[in-house]
Amino acid sequence: MEIKKGFVLGAGIMGSGIAQLMAQKGIEATLVDVNEDIVKKSLGRIKKGLDGRVAKGKMTEEEVAGILSRIKPSTSMDDAAGSDFVIEAVIEDVKLKQKVFARLDEVTRDDVILATNTTACSISEIASAVKDPGRVVGMHFFNPAVVMKLVEIMPGLASKPEIVTRTREFAEFLGKIPVVTEKEGIAGIASRVLAALLNEAVWVLYEGIGSVADIDTALKMGANQPMGPLALIDLIGIDTHLSKTRTLYEKLGDARYRPCYLLEKMVLAGYLGRKSGKGFYDYTVDPPQPMVLK
Ligand SMILES: NC(=O)c1ccc[n+]([C@@H]2O[C@H](COP(=O)([O-])OP(=O)(O)OC[C@H]3O[C@@H](n4cnc5c(N)ncnc54)[C@H](O)[C@@H]3O)[C@@H](O)[C@H]2O)c1
Repeated sequence: MEIKKGFVLGAGIMGSGIAQLMAQKGIEATLVDVNEDIVKKSLGRIKKGLDGRVAKGKMTEEEVAGILSRIKPSTSMDDAAGSDFVIEAVIEDVKLKQKVFARLDEVTRDDVILATNTTACSISEIASAVKDPGRVVGMHFFNPAVVMKLVEIMPGLASKPEIVTRTREFAEFLGKIPVVTEKEGIAGIASRVLAALLNEAVWVLYEGIGSVADIDTALKMGANQPMGPLALIDLIGIDTHLSKTRTLYEKLGDARYRPCYLLEKMVLAGYLGRKSGKGFYDYTVDPPQPMVLK
């Protein structure tokens, strides 16, 4: 089935990137969040990024205008009616995800795929809120969604094979390289492996072994990482990373995922990474400076 209209729930870091990606591929993308202010800010971020591409000569102003015209801001889940594909990207909270899926179930056509961009919530648990859990699937983009090539597709216990195949084809249409997991795991392959590495970097900082700058330099220079682990957690969002490691720790019981108390303190202090202006680095200054965190 041709996908002409996409619906993206949650206009945060991931939702805005996914809506932009859809619009770049000619799909009309409705982008929804809880209030107009958030959606407006999200559109502003998208425009800023696209304007940067124009400045570099990688896109024309006409192309940008076309992309922006295809993103429809909204604050109502009722607008999911008439959509051909739904991707949920609200915060990493399984109860909230179940709630929004129950509503999406009421509003959308029965043949529409309901995909979740969750990192570590259970696909089966989210799907249990829907009359036909067979149409729910995990479709996990990486950050920034417009740039990163990988999309991990994860079936829940009840996901229909046809739904998984259509989701893989849609990921390919969006220009991505999909990896479909054999079954539902606790987070996808890349997310799970990466979570352990990122977590270890926070523990090294908390134990006072290295500074923010030294830990990031060590991994960039010694392990050929394109960006340091602490800068990457800032990009992901400290709160999102914390929720993910907490889930992995609870479900796997493995000390590799034990969230460092420093992360808890940072979230309580409002240091959520790039999106709040402060995290392991201070983004209120240019260029961003490493923070001293204990
Ligand atoms: N940040 C990453 O690097 C990353 C990467 C891959 C997947 N994910 C996953 O994607 C999801 C979103 O993460 P994010 O980083 O974009 O988070 P975010 O905090 O940037 O954005 C989440 C958005 O959801 C909105 N929201 C909350 N309740 C809502 C509701 N009822 N209806 C509509 N919108 C609602 C919030 O207002 C917020 O704007 C999470 O499940 C996360 O685990 C994140």
